[in-house]
Amino acid sequence: MPDLPATAQADVPPARDWWKSAVVYQIYPRSFADSDGDGVGDLGGILSRLDHLQRLGVDVIWLSPVYRSPMDDNGYDISDYQDIDPLFGTLAQFDDLLAAAHERGIRIVMDLVVNHTSDEHAWFLDSRASADSPRRDWYWWRPPRPGHVGGQPGAEPTNWVSLFSGPAWQWDETTGAYYLHLFSPKQPDLNWENPELREAVYAMMRWWLDRGVDGFRMDVINMISKRELVDTPGGDPAPAAFNGPRLHEFLAEMHREVFAGRPPGLLTVGEMPSSTVEQARLHTDPARTELDMIFQFEHVDLDSGPGGKWDVVPLRLSRLKACLGRWQEGLAEVGWNSLYWGNHDQPRAVSRFGDDSPHHRVRSATALATVLHLHRGTPYIYQGDELGMTNAHFATIDDFRDIEALNHYRTAVAAGADPVAVLDALRRKGRDNARTPMQWDASPGAGFSSGDPWIEVNANHVEINAADQVDDPDSVFAHHQRLIALRHEEPVVAHGDFTMLLPEHEQLYVFTRSLGGRELLVAANLSSEQRVPVDVPAEWARAELVLTNVPSAARPSQPDDADEAAAALVLGPWEARIYRR
Ligand code: NOJ
Repeated sequence: MPDLPATAQADVPPARDWWKSAVVYQIYPRSFADSDGDGVGDLGGILSRLDHLQRLGVDVIWLSPVYRSPMDDNGYDISDYQDIDPLFGTLAQFDDLLAAAHERGIRIVMDLVVNHTSDEHAWFLDSRASADSPRRDWYWWRPPRPGHVGGQPGAEPTNWVSLFSGPAWQWDETTGAYYLHLFSPKQPDLNWENPELREAVYAMMRWWLDRGVDGFRMDVINMISKRELVDTPGGDPAPAAFNGPRLHEFLAEMHREVFAGRPPGLLTVGEMPSSTVEQARLHTDPARTELDMIFQFEHVDLDSGPGGKWDVVPLRLSRLKACLGRWQEGLAEVGWNSLYWGNHDQPRAVSRFGDDSPHHRVRSATALATVLHLHRGTPYIYQGDELGMTNAHFATIDDFRDIEALNHYRTAVAAGADPVAVLDALRRKGRDNARTPMQWDASPGAGFSSGDPWIEVNANHVEINAADQVDDPDSVFAHHQRLIALRHEEPVVAHGDFTMLLPEHEQLYVFTRSLGGRELLVAANLSSEQRVPVDVPAEWARAELVLTNVPSAARPSQPDDADEAAAALVLGPWEARIYRR
């Protein structure tokens, strides 16, 4: 065991559920800040920008993977869980970063990718080497479909389509067998049925916690228990490979083996595509000791049509409210929500849920943030969203870097789809939208890198950048600062009950939060409509305006009498207000 770095710990031990009043900031290291000019972000870059996060006021960093990796999926294909990839730095630098973050009162949560490894991980190399390897059973090996010749189309053990296009099974000549990969062929799925594999994962997690990290964001963790390796309608792996019968058992075991008995202050959040409210309630019920919270996907699937993610359909506000309202209600008594508009897998929040035109960008980014942060749950800010960064507007397929996008384009076009339509969907939903470099300033490299960035900097960094915003009280950044401070200061934001109002309204997002005698009213016009009147219940007439995203000089005319203001509320485009009584 190496000497552990001296990390500054808070004087007062945190409450068990400290994360209820915390705000998490996600760093996608590749695109955050590059300290050595190779065009790829790194740990040195993050270290040099910690002041930005401290100034913003966030409590936790979720660090996307920085482990050793061949980078087939930008680090979500890990070849060594206990080392840092040289592209990002060294373990010593990681220790420095952790210590520096802790000194600022910021925790660091690691990305834990244990549904799969890289095909270059020693475990897989061993498993693949021979059918008798001691680690053979750590992955999913299967013979060809009966009556078929291995390696020929249709011989795959099931008809599952990988989440990155193409069959989810890869033929391997070495032992004449297929292995399962729900993602790329370079990301073979681990077999969690094997107890030795599980213990190896837990040992690795303990090693990171002993080093001082503050928890884990668990990548597609609901895929670790497979239901049944059988054909599914359309080859969708979800019904057979997600949320398997042993998921609760594995998570409870992980908790026992890794987290139990450690002091409070750790955070666990599980990424769970296609999880339901009912499943989430079980996963996050503190009495069951599985996870603190999960990332659900329903609200980011609302603009997907029957054809899936790339079949982009318009988003209706009433459906968004019905969805998020149901999650608020479902986890009100037991469990906890995580709150997010975007991350490294989603298009930019302001381009998707707001209006990124120059006229409405700032206001729609701040209105969306207001609504999100005032829900009950732990808010997650994806890097750059605190600046209102937008989608990338890529010109051609050559501008994309993401394996998911490139594979989809190739497969869809080969199957006869119109390349223009495919590109259009990629522009709207592609993950690279969120992966363009962080916009620190207006200089040619956006302050991200002195070299050639691995993916093009968004041309709008000249207008949208941190340097311009951090001292501007009307900026998206300043508004995020105020929202974070409000959560820290006002217990009703973290703990209050949630009640949705006007659920059918297609422009207004209105709700109340209440705790003891304290109540907040949040009202936002999530549209570019000019003047939308809000029918506010009479008891709000004397309420105090706590926060708004519109500087007073720019507000539409309101009644002069402050007492009347909340009662006769008219909201301008993308205007959001928080009242307290
Ligand atoms: C979910 C991650 O967030 C995504 O970026 C990755 O491609 C897949 N899991 C596979 O690890």
